[in-house]
Amino acid sequence: MSAINRREALKKVAVVGTAAAAAGAVAAKAQADVYNFANEEDQVEVVGGWLTSKKGNKHMPIVKVEREGDIATIAVEVKHPQGAMHHIEAVHLYDEDRLLIASAYFHPERSKPKATFALRVPQGAKLLAVGDCNLHGLWFTEFVV
Ligand SMILES: [Fe+2]
Repeated sequence: MSAINRREALKKVAVVGTAAAAAGAVAAKAQADVYNFANEEDQVEVVGGWLTSKKGNKHMPIVKVEREGDIATIAVEVKHPQGAMHHIEAVHLYDEDRLLIASAYFHPERSKPKATFALRVPQGAKLLAVGDCNLHGLWFTEFVV
């Protein structure tokens, strides 16, 4: 390799190295965000690969249930900021065997993570509301209808 080619090659390595460092910084920030959202103060538990918190972490779906006959109206909201880089993509309702019953999907900037479902489910059934954060994974609230 000539001296000029070696110099050009070193410049390219420096550019690639800078880009990798920037990507590393972004990844480190995302990792720090995960710890900020899932720290000991939140008492976060992992159950079957999904997260839950006893202290009301902002990823936790908030559920309100009203029943009329055999239909349960279930309102689910996640009080999580919405933005292009970090948002709730969807909320899902599962039965206690983790079979999917219903889902709602959200635009990162044009919708709030809030939906209402009308389901025919037996009284006393145990369900899971799951919020899906694009950075921090699946968070569930267990409730009874
Ligand atoms: Fe999040």
